[in-house]
Amino acid sequence: GRPKRSAIYGKIRPMSRANPGGSVAAYVRDLPKAELHLHIEGTLEPELALRLARKHGVALPYASVAELRAAYDFSDLQSFLDVYYALADVLRDEDDFYHLGLSYLQRAHEQGVVHAEIFFDPQTHTARGIAFGAVVEGLRLALTEAQRRFGMTHRLIACFLRHLSAAEASRTLDEVLEHREVIAGVGLDSSEVGHPPSKFAAVFDRARGQGLLTVAHAGEEGPPAYIHEALDLLAVRRIDHGVRCEEDPALVQRLVREQIALTVCPLSNVRLRVFDRMEHHNLKRLLEAGLRVTVNSDDPAYFGGYLLENYLAVERALGLTRAQLATLARNSIAGSFLATDATRRWIREIDARADEGLHDAQWNNYVV
Ligand code: HPA
Ligand code: ZN
Repeated sequence: GRPKRSAIYGKIRPMSRANPGGSVAAYVRDLPKAELHLHIEGTLEPELALRLARKHGVALPYASVAELRAAYDFSDLQSFLDVYYALADVLRDEDDFYHLGLSYLQRAHEQGVVHAEIFFDPQTHTARGIAFGAVVEGLRLALTEAQRRFGMTHRLIACFLRHLSAAEASRTLDEVLEHREVIAGVGLDSSEVGHPPSKFAAVFDRARGQGLLTVAHAGEEGPPAYIHEALDLLAVRRIDHGVRCEEDPALVQRLVREQIALTVCPLSNVRLRVFDRMEHHNLKRLLEAGLRVTVNSDDPAYFGGYLLENYLAVERALGLTRAQLATLARNSIAGSFLATDATRRWIREIDARADEGLHDAQWNNYVV
């Protein structure tokens, strides 16, 4: 829910320290975490892609897993999207989406993800003649199965492809609304530059009018002005990526003041050359500026790691403290669309597991 200042949090001492001298990997794995920026099509591993290509008799331009992985040498967002959309062609029926979804959820569960907010790109599939209902039903079955097996909660978010027209997004929204009980919100993704949020203001107005939650990719390759637009014209509840906010100090202040979560994806940012190397990533500066920064995996099959690998990559490159790692986990829960009671329960659980050190100021001030 919306952040409210709490008088209680921070006054409860941790009940146990999970592993005071243990490995950082085990420490991060055992912190309850939400994943808030995950494209389910981006979890398509090469092995599954080749298996589904055989199943459906689809001719891919890649003959082996090795050839496929070699194509993952991206130079920017567009060079990634070209491969990502080409491979999505192997996803054809409900069962494919079920397997894709459940493989991801199983892996996420093993890494301590307790809540997953999952994007899918309806237009990538409906444009190929795949029924919207088959995509949604396969994903719904996977999400329900993960809830039953692992107790994982979820939200499903349909993203509009911003390189396509607003009219096409509007037609996609009509289909989203036919599955209103399964889909919690809408987002905006694909090629950012040249496709500002303003293009989709009317579609997002209509989505919000129907009670859908809204998010948008902004400030990945696009300028800080796109982040302002996403907030002002789309009224989004959080910003996907958003790392370019740093170029606009007034925007940074606003994001801090309003505690708008940024769903940062470190391995993605390095692979798509938003930052040339992890050591140059601005995540730690943004976190220390008081932004509600979260860590996410974006398209893990393409970028070399799932959620835990993303946490560990920034921890190693930027030297995050254990307290900061716990703050990232708290931010993921607080930035999620979970209800307030669930949010508080998970934050308390993180408090109990967090290794904060005696003099860490951050942890006495956490706002839910
Ligand atoms: N940015 C834009 N579109 C996307 C991304 C991304 O990081 N991942 C999948 N589609
Ligand atoms: Zn993304």
